[in-house]
Amino acid sequence: MRACSRWRIFLLSVPMIFFLPHILSVLKLQEDLSAQNLHRDKPKKFDHLVLGAAAGVGLPDRLQCEGTRALNRTQFSTFSENSINGDQISFVTVFTTYNSSLDVQIDRKVIDLVTVGNKSYNKVNRSLAILNVFIDFIQATMSHSKVIILTDPSSELPVHRNRVTIHPIQGEYSRDRLMLQRIRSYIVFLETRLEEYSLGKGQINHYIFTDSDIAVIGDLGQFFRDYPNFHLALTFRNNKEQPLNSGFIAVRGTIDGMKRAKAFLEEVLKVYISKYMRASRMLGDQLALAWVVKSQHSFDARMFTKKQPFLHDIDGTSVLFLPCAIYNWTPPEGAGQFHGMPLDVKVVHFKGSRKRLMLEAWDFFSSSNADISDMLCLILKSGRTKYDF
Ligand SMILES: *[C@@H]1O[C@H](CO)[C@@H](O)[C@H](O)[C@H]1NC(C)=O
Ligand SMILES: *[C@@H]1O[C@H](CO)[C@@H](O)[C@H](O)[C@H]1NC(C)=O
Ligand SMILES: *[C@@H]1O[C@H](CO)[C@@H](O)[C@H](O)[C@H]1NC(C)=O
Ligand SMILES: *[C@@H]1O[C@H](CO)[C@@H](O)[C@H](O)[C@H]1NC(C)=O
Repeated sequence: MRACSRWRIFLLSVPMIFFLPHILSVLKLQEDLSAQNLHRDKPKKFDHLVLGAAAGVGLPDRLQCEGTRALNRTQFSTFSENSINGDQISFVTVFTTYNSSLDVQIDRKVIDLVTVGNKSYNKVNRSLAILNVFIDFIQATMSHSKVIILTDPSSELPVHRNRVTIHPIQGEYSRDRLMLQRIRSYIVFLETRLEEYSLGKGQINHYIFTDSDIAVIGDLGQFFRDYPNFHLALTFRNNKEQPLNSGFIAVRGTIDGMKRAKAFLEEVLKVYISKYMRASRMLGDQLALAWVVKSQHSFDARMFTKKQPFLHDIDGTSVLFLPCAIYNWTPPEGAGQFHGMPLDVKVVHFKGSRKRLMLEAWDFFSSSNADISDMLCLILKSGRTKYDF
């Protein structure tokens, strides 16, 4: 703060144009120095939880914490599943395991064990642990929901749990192609469901396609009831390059919903292949999603700066846009984008280096008397830390 106002006085008191190049190079130098500092601080990944300041302190509509004790009850505490009188909801995720003998050559650290609670994980079983915790959260918060895992027919997933189905789909699941394959698998899955449905085997079952590094902590049936006419729902955030996150796509389980959602995803796939095949393997689908939406003339991208859900017709598909802050909340990133945690957050997304925090959060929730709100404090307070996986 102080440095900032000193700069302002300095800037006001000198002729701008003369000094500007110099100032820029000073700023550049400072940037370089702080980048060096970052490097010097290595190794900066932690193998234990590090609680820091919680973002959003003092904001009335954000979770307030005292240590890991929540001062506010979040929506979950009052949410009772009896209130769900709607249709069945299933969660669908794409998951595959990789041949670990190949990993050993690439990454010698593969033998390293990571410990959370009283369990340790190597590189192979930690990704399975994420999948299991994904299922654990759903079974704790939306216990009537099913989980469907779309996977490579050649991978034998050791997941045997109630209300969990493994659905093999032929395809190319290499790491480089995984995001592309994921959209293909979603499309094939919807085709299968449409066939079953037309054979009269279906009750209405909505689908939520998600990454497996998310924790469902609130009722995801509500928006299907509140917005009865959408076909497909996406999550948006105020981010120019990547306003849409591909980690959460909901589809209404009616014939019309599934047909329109399938057509929409086919368009995204087409754009992905024709424009973004060279994008980094993680981003192509998000860029393609954004392209398909923004290419509608009637679409105003300023809607992404708003906080409320909104509907828009995209080539005949009625798309519901849901705010990431509630439906796809990520522990604070560098910019502290969301200024703390809203009290009605429903989905926490443990992107990137936050995977370990997902295991820690579940361990905290399941092995203590903590409730979901307290667990959210743990996440909020340690979300800026980088962990070792
Ligand atoms: C959350 O808790 C804080 C601290 O007790 C309180 O000041 C604030 O009003 C609460 N917010 C809501 C929305 O209940
Ligand atoms: C993993 O790769 C090795 C070497 O290519 C191969 O011998 C082995 O059968 C593969 N294992 C699995 C489970 O695919
Ligand atoms: C994961 O694998 C390692 C090495 O085989 C083993 O020691 C560990 O107990 C496994 N962890 C779990 C949770 O199964
Ligand atoms: C690990 O912790 C869980 C929960 O605290 C407990 O139920 C279980 O018995 C523990 N297992 C071992 C091997 O200590």
